[in-house]
Amino acid sequence: MSSTTIHENNHHNGSHIPKKPKLSSTFITPSEIESEFGHHDAAVARINNGSFGCCPASILAAQRRWQLQYLRQPDHFYFNDLQSGILQSRTLIKDLVNADHVNEISIVDNATTAAAIVLQHTAWNFREGKFQKGDVVLMLHYAYGAVKKSMEAYVTRAGGNVVEVPLPFPVNSNDEIVSEFRKALERGKSNGNRVRLAVIDHVTSMPCVVIPVKELIQICREEGVDQVFVDAAHSIGCTDVDMKEIGADFYTSNLHKWFFCPPSIAFLYTRRNLKGTDPGSDLHHPVVSHEYGNGLAVESAWIGTRDYSAQLVVPAAVEFVNRFEGGIEGIKKRNHEAVVEMGEMLAKAWGTRLGSPPHMCASMVMVGLPACLGIGSDSDALKLRTHLRDAFGVEVPIYYRSPREGEVGVVTGYARISHQVYNKVDDYYKFRDAVNQLVQNGFTCVVLSSD
Ligand SMILES: Cc1ncc(COP(=O)(O)O)c(C=O)c1O
Repeated sequence: MSSTTIHENNHHNGSHIPKKPKLSSTFITPSEIESEFGHHDAAVARINNGSFGCCPASILAAQRRWQLQYLRQPDHFYFNDLQSGILQSRTLIKDLVNADHVNEISIVDNATTAAAIVLQHTAWNFREGKFQKGDVVLMLHYAYGAVKKSMEAYVTRAGGNVVEVPLPFPVNSNDEIVSEFRKALERGKSNGNRVRLAVIDHVTSMPCVVIPVKELIQICREEGVDQVFVDAAHSIGCTDVDMKEIGADFYTSNLHKWFFCPPSIAFLYTRRNLKGTDPGSDLHHPVVSHEYGNGLAVESAWIGTRDYSAQLVVPAAVEFVNRFEGGIEGIKKRNHEAVVEMGEMLAKAWGTRLGSPPHMCASMVMVGLPACLGIGSDSDALKLRTHLRDAFGVEVPIYYRSPREGEVGVVTGYARISHQVYNKVDDYYKFRDAVNQLVQNGFTCVVLSSD
């Protein structure tokens, strides 16, 4: 490859991207947005950006250019392009999340991998005698399923005691969360046990609620919790992400959910300690490769031969979001306003309510479904989701909330709706009408039970 070609490719890959959103009136147009997402299945009202995110055509094209650059001359790519490309992505992420230093940012595949890195470290601390048997790791009851399994695999097996913070749902205020958190912390500290790690979601997955992380971290500091890991799989592009402001020791967010990157890319932030020691020097990628021992960021940038293209398109993603008014901040704000408006429209149509007040939501909202649908279990919720996809072309996750003792005729099913730039009001009308039709037909989940 000639140096001109490399230069051109780097340009296409976003080397010279404007760091700031546009100020002029030449913002991306509705038809350009439609064409960027022209590969979406037009038959489906996709109101579930939260699960798998989305990736526009221009970023897919940038990814393809990186893939071809590799396949054209792999050795040249490996020796000359890969590390500088990943460093450029890390530098952009560092700026986006207001970290102190690029060494605080490692790029990994996804939030699941980031959780494994942090919890594997916790497991070693137990095994190596730095933590005592019975010491506590705290997590929210609504922690993501895979993270809960990681707790089992790494913490419980190593002798740690996992304490859950029960969270109310529907939830009405941050105070309810803070109060439950304090109580769980007290339980964790009883019998003289130390709380070694708190794992706190920034935006819980199911049901979705924006957690007051900054406040909870402050409490952890006051109460002597050793370290805090924020699982913010949904955060970047969805809610405010500022490492200095939040003050976590470890923080991860996917970029393939709300930052338009293809799967799979996440960052793991590891805070520099006061001595300025290189962060991540004691953390390791679970896939051990040649770079073992050179710091997490370097280890993570080479975990053997694989496709690194998703990690290289961050410049293209920044370029993409800057085509929108206000850049990613503008996108975030408009998504929030739109999803709240659509949630309220649906709740009104069905005579239900939102699962939390708007200020506790980001770009996803929980909306109560009519009680007459008879959602009586997690399995019902999953079957109804499948039915909505197959019979109505609506993609939306459903949450089952079991009634508390004495509760009768309450809403037991909530839909988690998302809003992203490609969504239209008709997507939500389609969902509204599908549910109205089910209600009109006297449908209940019992009908799906024998499937
Ligand atoms: C809170 C939370 N943690 C972790 C994950 C896992 O993300 P990934 O599948 O990209 O690893 C998710 C995915 O939805 C999530 O919502």
